[in-house]
Amino acid sequence: MDTNGGELQAYLGRQLALIEEALHRFMPAAAIRPDRLHEAMRYSVLGGGKRIRPVLLLAACEAVGGDPRKALPAACAVEMIHAYSLIHDDLPAMDNDDLRRGRPTNHKVYGEATAILAGDGLLTEAFVLLSRNDVLTDVTTADRLAIINLLATHAGTRGMVGGQMVDMEVEGSTIDLPILEYIHTHKTGALIKAAVGIGAIVGGALAQQREALQRYAAAAGLAFQIADDILDVTAMTDELGKRSGSDQQRGKATYPGFFGLAEAQQRARELNDIAIDSLQLFGEEAQPLRAIARYIIERSY
Ligand code: IPE
Ligand code: IPE
Ligand code: MG
Ligand code: MG
Ligand code: MG
Repeated sequence: MDTNGGELQAYLGRQLALIEEALHRFMPAAAIRPDRLHEAMRYSVLGGGKRIRPVLLLAACEAVGGDPRKALPAACAVEMIHAYSLIHDDLPAMDNDDLRRGRPTNHKVYGEATAILAGDGLLTEAFVLLSRNDVLTDVTTADRLAIINLLATHAGTRGMVGGQMVDMEVEGSTIDLPILEYIHTHKTGALIKAAVGIGAIVGGALAQQREALQRYAAAAGLAFQIADDILDVTAMTDELGKRSGSDQQRGKATYPGFFGLAEAQQRARELNDIAIDSLQLFGEEAQPLRAIARYIIERSY
């Protein structure tokens, strides 16, 4: 696969179609009570997005020789947690954003109370999917537990929620590099690590493969948030689908804010190299992961 061109587009197109179909299948129907809450959950999960975490999960599964279709329920669970994190991240009490994926944010449409509950509902529903052996099939009980543990720890206070907390705490203040790194590796890196780790488990990875994928995910996950910070400075709202320039306005801890734009871009490129170097023990089967690493730092939204 070409790491930079049409082949990635075609690959992503195929994976995205699988993921969209599965998300529609696994989300509670809007007709089921509490219908307004289910509608709000569906609004955020089914309303676009790059789907980078589920794509990474499937690609990691494939890289170790697994069948990515078997990983779809887990991929959807991770995307549900991501969607919940965006709903809560956009709330007035947090980043107070009114635009997400080119549409009004969840609380703008449904109100704050429903948006909070939609996030709660999505977080919980993710674990319902993973715990059901008629949904996530063909995994051993030990692997299912390992998957649930990986996602719970990376989504919780030792992971994403921890990063979100510190992101809030240091708003508007001067920070040092360890704090900036903590925020980025936790608020964003952790869920990306979980996605890749879960793909590896479903695919039946050997210990050595799992370790290599962990190194890949750590680098790609940090690069993803650095790119998010860079785009907040360089991209236009129309293309981003969310308000550009909002980080500086809120005094957020960002890589371009700390290092300047050019050095932040340089760091993202270095992390991309580290991510790709981590995959040396893999051949062609990890080509999607290599291409995604590149996409992460070169994307325009
Ligand atoms: C945005 O994530 C929030 C971060 C963790 C950086 P994405 O850039 O993956 O958002 P969508 O899902 O594509 O909208
Ligand atoms: C969000 O980071 C991270 C999570 C939602 C966990 P940001 O606040 O930078 O994400 P955007 O820029 O609003 O998408
Ligand atoms: Mg935020
Ligand atoms: Mg935000
Ligand atoms: Mg951002």
